[in-house]
Amino acid sequence: MHAIFLIISLALTVFYSCIAPAQPGLQFPYSTEKELIVDSAAVVSAHPLATRVGVDILRKGGNAVDAAVAVQLALAVVYPQAGNIGGGGFMIYRSAKGEVAALDYREKAPAAAYERMYQDSLGNVLPEKSRFGILACGVPGSVDGMWEAHRRFGRLPWATLVEPAIRLADEGFPLSEREAASLNQEAERFRRYNFSVPAFVKSEPWKAGDYLVQKDLANTLRQIAEKGRKGFYEGPVAALLIKEMKRQGGLITLNDLRRYRSVWRKPLIFSWRDLTIISMPPPSSGGLLLAQMLTMWGDTLPLAGGFHSAEAVHRMIEIERRAYADRAQHMADPDYWKVPVGSLLDVNYLRRRMADFNPHRATPSTSVKAGIFSSTSEETTHLSIVDPEGNAVAVTTTLNDAYGSRVVVSGAGFLLNNEMDDFSAKPGTPNLYGAIGGKANAIAPGKRPLSSMTPTIVLRDGKLSLVVGTPGGTTIPTSVFQVLLNVYEFGLPLREAVHSKRFHHQWMPDVVFLEEGALSEEVRHKLTAMGHTLQQRPSIGRVEAILRLPNGKLHAVADDRGDDTAGGY
Ligand code: GLY
Repeated sequence: MHAIFLIISLALTVFYSCIAPAQPGLQFPYSTEKELIVDSAAVVSAHPLATRVGVDILRKGGNAVDAAVAVQLALAVVYPQAGNIGGGGFMIYRSAKGEVAALDYREKAPAAAYERMYQDSLGNVLPEKSRFGILACGVPGSVDGMWEAHRRFGRLPWATLVEPAIRLADEGFPLSEREAASLNQEAERFRRYNFSVPAFVKSEPWKAGDYLVQKDLANTLRQIAEKGRKGFYEGPVAALLIKEMKRQGGLITLNDLRRYRSVWRKPLIFSWRDLTIISMPPPSSGGLLLAQMLTMWGDTLPLAGGFHSAEAVHRMIEIERRAYADRAQHMADPDYWKVPVGSLLDVNYLRRRMADFNPHRATPSTSVKAGIFSSTSEETTHLSIVDPEGNAVAVTTTLNDAYGSRVVVSGAGFLLNNEMDDFSAKPGTPNLYGAIGGKANAIAPGKRPLSSMTPTIVLRDGKLSLVVGTPGGTTIPTSVFQVLLNVYEFGLPLREAVHSKRFHHQWMPDVVFLEEGALSEEVRHKLTAMGHTLQQRPSIGRVEAILRLPNGKLHAVADDRGDDTAGGY
């Protein structure tokens, strides 16, 4: 195994030396750098301007956490569909010296939320209510999260990290073609869910190169720069948010805002082969699912077919099916629900889980139940950063759906999330991602909805190997799973590992979702003959990854499914 790895490493080193180092250009139209090799530091994010902000902060002497804070805030301006200050997220951190931390700044249900708030009097679920408009919003966590990350690990002054976002909001920036189209597509909803017309709507349709100027957002960011978390959760910005709640009949109160606190969780750390994987514990299902799936994949698998062969894909689907059955029943906010982490990760349990795996036939999801233990936007965005000292940060952050609830706090210029849809509105009823849940993930005041976000750092022989993550709702853990297998099992160069087409199964619905061109016709036929139902869907995830190469350099790859950009030096 080791010999094979050495040969692959050698081949990759030769391959990588052919890729020229490069920097993203910022003149419009933007050049979106998809791949670069750098000596010292790298940033990969969903937008070229945000990536540049991160690189600038590193060049100024900031560390990876400083850069992550500045990139998150910049994304709130230049990538409003998922970058945010009105949403939440998770951060995985590993210092060059080996200190690890996991920050949960997930949104919380307001104190006035209740279990059946998205059901009518007959118990029918009202999906519009949890997806769009003021009742869909959880108490935002992003500003507290950034403040807390900076308080513990930051180096540069806080205001220095907010300043680039203020400038981008105040002066505006040219929209890419993709962003212009995306805003045009949402114009109707922005009008429907707001009393005053937000900056995202213009009388004529947006076109590439038009400037998006966000003066209200710039003022909100100035408050945050000056007063830190209090600039958001108290004072004029909080007052505007509460005014919006009152105007539209929302539930979030000043007390909800004041009480919001992000939480340092114990990172979920597990071994797989010679790797140590550090990922997000509950309230995200991401780390648990990733650990379950890699463990079920096993470590001694002489697979005949290899990457995207029917044999490998079938096995991955069956693994995903079994893991997601557990997600629906057992995973939730650990402050409200006893998540049986030990049982879910028990190697013997996971082996038993695969005992009925048939290499030639699909197992119908109806016959796969969650394990029984004695104790009880898809729009999101990810950024990966490694600084010159070797500190690494993986952040996944979200408003949930693209542009969240579509509610923009009038006068404050920021979008509010629709994270309440990540709760289970009623046992067995699918949410936005078609995921079903039960009691574990029922709504309760102050509770955090179950997430799938999987910011992940991988170590090999105790040294940094990979920083990775992606948006994509319930497809997040399976995308990270695929990238890890692509790199560490199938030996693909990082660019291919990230850019190659993906597929996804989540137990229910019992369907294998495929990106266009994901698998050859022959493999699709074989899978159908095994009993799988295949369904093509739009693109899955936008992975941002940084791999430390055998020669010590950093290989940064931005997904080619969007304007995602790698930067570094
Ligand atoms: N809102 C998507 C997630 O947290 O998984």
